[in-house]
Amino acid sequence: MKNLMTVVDQKSIADKIHEMVLEGDITSTMETPGQFVHVRINDTTEHVLRRPISIADIDHEHSRFTIIYRAEGEGTRKLSKLRAGDAVDVLTPLGNGYPLEQNDHVLIIGGGIGVPPLYELSKQLNRMGVRTTHVLGFNSKKDVFYEDKFRALGETHVATADGSYGTEGFVTDVIRTLDQQFDCFYACGPKVMLKVLSETMDMDGYISLEERMGCGFGVCYACVCETAEGDWIKLCTEGPVFRKGEIVL
Ligand SMILES: Cc1cc2nc3c(=O)[nH]c(=O)nc-3n(C[C@H](O)[C@H](O)[C@H](O)COP(=O)(O)OP(=O)(O)OC[C@H]3O[C@@H](n4cnc5c(N)ncnc54)[C@H](O)[C@@H]3O)c2cc1C
Ligand code: FES
Repeated sequence: MKNLMTVVDQKSIADKIHEMVLEGDITSTMETPGQFVHVRINDTTEHVLRRPISIADIDHEHSRFTIIYRAEGEGTRKLSKLRAGDAVDVLTPLGNGYPLEQNDHVLIIGGGIGVPPLYELSKQLNRMGVRTTHVLGFNSKKDVFYEDKFRALGETHVATADGSYGTEGFVTDVIRTLDQQFDCFYACGPKVMLKVLSETMDMDGYISLEERMGCGFGVCYACVCETAEGDWIKLCTEGPVFRKGEIVL
């Protein structure tokens, strides 16, 4: 569904990381954590392709939702220049999100710009009474965001690749030290992280892929990926969330 949303607030929360709050009626259709919005950068023909960004936080009471993104290339850099009152054209809600299962204790693992959708996920799981432990990985201290927000929902560990904050190393270095039982894990982040987790975690899990997309709603085939059975599926309509082992990483 195409919609014009209004920017309510936009601020920088870490190095090149922006938090944008948008308001509009379409928020009422957002339910499942892990779904994404497809954002049009501007009205020119310069950026024909929309940019997929995960829904990080849903506030039904005020018809608002939050996206968190890294100003990576030209499109997202332009997005970061928008201010309160500006309009943004989005398609939403797109994709299949994380299944919400009534478990006792789950592990939530995010890497870099894979962290945002896990915040809404953790909020909803906590609301259901599921205990959540979070492990967030970043390159460096300057890249860390939402640590306190996750901490307010449950035990939270941070790893940085350069050791400038938290545990030195990767999320797997933290996970190795956790002496707790988890029913399953939920993850989003770089493909290499998802691959290692899928291969090493001795429990059920769900992963979300943030690969390149074209249309975002199933017609262009820009996002196909291979399943473990050798079929081809579209990430935008059948993902971006998959069960561990379902697709070839
Ligand atoms: C389902 C989904 C959810 C996403 N959620 C988020 C989010 O919550 N926050 C966020 O910051 N990003 C997210 N992304 C990634 C985001 O879509 C890209 O970073 C963005 O489209 C890049 O646009 P650009 O105009 O800045 O870069 P471009 O100018 O298009 O490209 C600049 C550089 O970024 C690289 N790049 C482009 N797209 C991607 C991508 N999908 N993944 C990795 N590298 C890419 C290009 O190869 C190039 O090197 C998500 C992607 C998907 C598919
Ligand atoms: S992005 Fe076009 S089919 Fe998935």
